[in-house]
Amino acid sequence: MTPDEFRRAGHELVEWIASYRERLAAGSMPVQSRQRPGDLLARLPAAAPEQGEDFSAIMRDLDELIMPGITHWQHPRFFGYFPSGAALASVLGDMMSTGLGVIGLNWQASPALTELEQVMCDWLRDLLGLPAAFSGVIQDTASVATFLALVSARERATNHGASRAGLQDGGAPLVIYTSTQAHSSVDKAALLAGFGRQHVRALPVDAEFRLQVPALEAAIAADRAAGLRPCAIVATSGTTATTAMDPIQALAAIAQRAGLWLHVDAAMAGTAMLLPECRRHWAGIEGADSIVVNPHKWMTVAFDCTLYLVRDAEHLVRVMSTNPSYLQTPMDAQVRNYRDWGIALGRRFRALKIWVTLREQGVAAIRQRLRRDLANAQWLAAQVDATAPWRRVAPVSLQTVCVRHEPPGLAGEALDAHTRRWAQAINESGAACLTPAMVDGRWMVRVSIGIEATEARHVAELWQSMCAAAATAAAGA
Ligand SMILES: Cc1ncc(COP(=O)(O)O)c(C=O)c1O
Repeated sequence: MTPDEFRRAGHELVEWIASYRERLAAGSMPVQSRQRPGDLLARLPAAAPEQGEDFSAIMRDLDELIMPGITHWQHPRFFGYFPSGAALASVLGDMMSTGLGVIGLNWQASPALTELEQVMCDWLRDLLGLPAAFSGVIQDTASVATFLALVSARERATNHGASRAGLQDGGAPLVIYTSTQAHSSVDKAALLAGFGRQHVRALPVDAEFRLQVPALEAAIAADRAAGLRPCAIVATSGTTATTAMDPIQALAAIAQRAGLWLHVDAAMAGTAMLLPECRRHWAGIEGADSIVVNPHKWMTVAFDCTLYLVRDAEHLVRVMSTNPSYLQTPMDAQVRNYRDWGIALGRRFRALKIWVTLREQGVAAIRQRLRRDLANAQWLAAQVDATAPWRRVAPVSLQTVCVRHEPPGLAGEALDAHTRRWAQAINESGAACLTPAMVDGRWMVRVSIGIEATEARHVAELWQSMCAAAATAAAGA
């Protein structure tokens, strides 16, 4: 493709994206894809074309082949999983990055890539109300950031012994403490970092799904008595199922007393900390060793974009650094080389999409949108609370409302079947997208509010769909 051909095709694609977003905003498209497994597989050729094709043929197939298999995450009635906004400004920022086609191997490989990332991490840290002692790096996902945190914790606990001798270090097993509500990425990180699943303590939670502090203290004491080495606590600010907030202040005090690493997973809910009134939810956060927040969730920076903040950047660099001769430059002592702050050597210019999003929207508008979403969640919670036999199964700390429709006489597995039936009916109707999840061994449905296009009326429409679908499911039960 020549630059001139790119100009024409690019304009066509930008126009296509703009009208796609307009169609989404109109709200008439089904939210969830209706494809069956294998539908696209059956329609794609088995091998790549030998001869190049015209871009118009590719665009036609985008509409005919790809679009039926898209669940519309930017749809105003997308309430599934978590809000993962892709503001159009951030799409342009991503396009800048890809268009430049640069890779941040080291500072010299594109000085602006490193220095903009440094400043964007500082901007975000300050916006989240965190002290200047933290410094940040952009990673692809929270899962990777949590893995880095656990490797860093392991190295601090072993005085870098595990990086020298690997799993043959020979000390007593190191133990990770988290709650039953932690995201599965904690388990995965512990596994990959060599702790072993049997050394992850998934501790009980209280009635509001927060890690129980006395259970943590007891587990640490029991492990010490058994000759094991407590190593790290992974707290969650905004759990995946119910957006529960672990008590960071108390956990930080224990971590400090016991000499443990404290990692705070605020992947989704961290964005709320742009609002000073929400910061009570992570009081004590300055005591964390590391924090992960995903701007690619509620902040509307297009996926993938994870902010990983650490209090001791030197420790992270010592753990992750490799320094082959071909990457050394005379500037190394004066600059950040972000390859030493994570796993990947080559790094995308992700800071551009943060920069463009924050500049184009302005922080005031982002805060206003977050407050709108909080108010919409409170409205829905009030409807649920006022309408039998609906029941709210968790506090609404931010923008997630967890509900169950409990017709008299339905309990246990019959209630589970009812819950999944009405949620599935809504998803299959295309009216909205919701994610059922389990808490306390029973199914419930999460309504996760926060897509940029979602206004109060969309939440009201969802509530109507919920009432209708639950009534129909109950009548057929
Ligand atoms: C609390 C929490 N942590 C971590 C993750 C994983 O995020 P990522 O996809 O960026 O790895 C999620 C995603 O749902 C989450 O809710």
